Amino acid sequence: MSRKIILDCDPGHDDAVALLLAQANPSVELLAVTTVAGNQSLPKVTHNALGIAEVAGITAPIAAGAAGPLVRAARFAGEIHGASGLDGVSLPEPSVALDPRHAVDLIVELVMSHEPGEITLVPTGPLTNIALAVRREPRIVDRVREVVLMGGAARTGNRTPVAEFNILFDPEAADVVFSAGWRVTMAGLDVTHQAVATPDVARRVAAIGGRKADFVVELLEAFGRAYRDVQGFDAPPVHDPVAVAVVIAPELFEIVPAPIAVELTGTHTTGMTVVDLRPWVPRDVPTRVVLGLDRGRFWDLVVDAVR
Ligand code: BDR
Ligand code: CA
Repeated sequence: MSRKIILDCDPGHDDAVALLLAQANPSVELLAVTTVAGNQSLPKVTHNALGIAEVAGITAPIAAGAAGPLVRAARFAGEIHGASGLDGVSLPEPSVALDPRHAVDLIVELVMSHEPGEITLVPTGPLTNIALAVRREPRIVDRVREVVLMGGAARTGNRTPVAEFNILFDPEAADVVFSAGWRVTMAGLDVTHQAVATPDVARRVAAIGGRKADFVVELLEAFGRAYRDVQGFDAPPVHDPVAVAVVIAPELFEIVPAPIAVELTGTHTTGMTVVDLRPWVPRDVPTRVVLGLDRGRFWDLVVDAVR
């Protein structure tokens, strides 16, 4: 049986791969795509989502959400994703119209109109929309099956030594999401830095041919250049599809229950996800951290989705 998901994203090169995977893999059913400011401004990431939908053949509603963090000023990720949020990639003009509903309303509406435990939320951007949805309709916490998110890090961050971009962009929203009491599975940098797109991945995708494959090849090239120039990676870590893959095939991942708290007031540690991996700490908690993956089988899922 396929798992119904709502993908809340800020496309973004790797968000685009997450969208392609979610649309094409038969183990998940994409109910809606919601956008949030993060990698770039809300109008830009929403425009990108509509263009990607065109390439990926997404017919689910696409709705725009929060234009900025709950409390702090927005700091976009132009150095990685460029001024457009998807630099270096040719995007078709979208023919699909944006859904008129606010993303938060759409999330609440979908969760409340489905059976408890039916919908999984998959955020791959800052957690602003999800936190607002919890505040708008707290009953969603008991109805959502699970939140499987890309964000955070148990060990090393990327925006700061300890903070990952999606969490640091809106730490107060992340705090709401991590402490709500629902099951949260954190696919953070510990695992996504292992999901690197080495040249063999790009070659496999290129061999497929056609518009979707060309799009992904272009995207991996641009992402690879940015990650090499800015963070010194040989091959780019393609973060966001990891969260989708955790929903599709959890058996490919090492997932450990652990208490997770978001640092809001640290002098040097704001935005850190503090993951308690001390062996004697009780593990009967609703939060889990993803620490490892079967890299080959992860890329098989993505390559199959493109095909
Ligand atoms: C995360 O930040 C964004 O730039 C990516 O899309 C990903 O969601 C990685 O830190
Ligand atoms: Ca993202």
